[in-house]
Amino acid sequence: MPVAVVVGMQWGDEGKGKIIDLLAENVDVVARYQGGHNAGHTICFNEKQFVLHLIPSGIFHKDKLCVIGNGVVVDPQALVEEMRQLEETGIDLEGRLLISDRANIIMPYHGTSDKGRESGSGFEKIGTTGRGIGPSYADKIARAGIRVCDLRDEAYLTERLRANYEEKQKVLKSLYGTELPEFKEMLDELMSYRETILKYITDTHILMRDQIAQGKNILCEGAQGTMLDVDHGTYPFVTSSNSTAGGACTGLGIPPTKVNKVLGVIKAYTTRVGEGPFPSELSDADGERLGKVGHEFGATTGRQRRCGWFDAVVARYGVHLNGVDALVLTKVDVLDGFKTIKVCTGYKYKGKVFPDMPADPVIQANCEPVYVDFEGWSESTVGIQDYDKLPKNAKDYISRLSELVETPFMMISTGPDREQTIQRESLF
Ligand code: IMP
Repeated sequence: MPVAVVVGMQWGDEGKGKIIDLLAENVDVVARYQGGHNAGHTICFNEKQFVLHLIPSGIFHKDKLCVIGNGVVVDPQALVEEMRQLEETGIDLEGRLLISDRANIIMPYHGTSDKGRESGSGFEKIGTTGRGIGPSYADKIARAGIRVCDLRDEAYLTERLRANYEEKQKVLKSLYGTELPEFKEMLDELMSYRETILKYITDTHILMRDQIAQGKNILCEGAQGTMLDVDHGTYPFVTSSNSTAGGACTGLGIPPTKVNKVLGVIKAYTTRVGEGPFPSELSDADGERLGKVGHEFGATTGRQRRCGWFDAVVARYGVHLNGVDALVLTKVDVLDGFKTIKVCTGYKYKGKVFPDMPADPVIQANCEPVYVDFEGWSESTVGIQDYDKLPKNAKDYISRLSELVETPFMMISTGPDREQTIQRESLF
């Protein structure tokens, strides 16, 4: 069973970094299929913490290939900086890091446009990471983007950048009064990253095709989460790519017929960073406690995450959209000590109960969650590795969640460290 996709089931920050890092031990290739340096994957081992934004979380395992797929948008400055930091910690990247030559590049004017729209336009504020993700994907779809392969040909790159520069300069000045740096300055900066990046770029579709043909174990890593998917999430409060499992096929050039398994990562409660609907959000002491105990601050922007109870409507939606075979439940230990734990099982709006996720933003924002109560547990679950050692009420909570979402939990995470994990089944 060589090709598995790991996908976030909520609004991102489910703890995918730790799970991918754990699973990476038994795989040959970890491949990222969408998003950019808006993502933040936190990995803890040997009492150290690392945050990755762009490079797949498998990089900490020697000999594993790490692929940045065509579906990712690459900020060259952020990439080179992350490469430098990894190399400083003794990680060897050469021959292991492979960047798709078809991936689109994030340019400085994308960041300017992202921040401009967030602060001064007539549109609702999304609460983006401000890293130019949306404008870069917009250029990709508008066929104006600059791609990694363009770095190979200086004349073509210059011509394409100039066309973009002239357009963006006019638009940004007239919309937000922003002046871009001189064209030459922008080109020179891009060229300064070129040499570093060139030796890592390749046709990753061919690499994936060959690895699949050789029966290698491949983990496709999604960033963000299902509810931030541009098609299926809480639009317009979403990111600009397909974070759901289907994105792995388009974002890596893998045929759907070659994907063997989909693994969903889901937190034992819910968080969201940025604006937008969040039906089971808590604005009381329980929400504050989840945030404090769970250290719920964004790994990329440091923003405080909004917290709420587990939402089974979101979870079921994610299971169906992604075709999830098994789930990983994370941060169970954060619920230790709660007297009562609630789970949202439906949304009530104007007297009607919605068992499934509605598309309408007005319903998503104004519905009332329908809750089922669970008795909590007073014992600590931190670091438990054996399912039978969990308190009875924790086991009851987990097994009820599993019934509600009609999917088994393959792994349960009881702390940030690699070792703080209950492994019930193996993926490969
Ligand atoms: P963008 O991806 O920067 O355009 O931001 C769009 C929305 O996605 C905002 O609500 C961000 O906070 C959210 N977002 C983007 N990346 C992540 C992530 O890795 N985790 C959680 N939320 C994210």
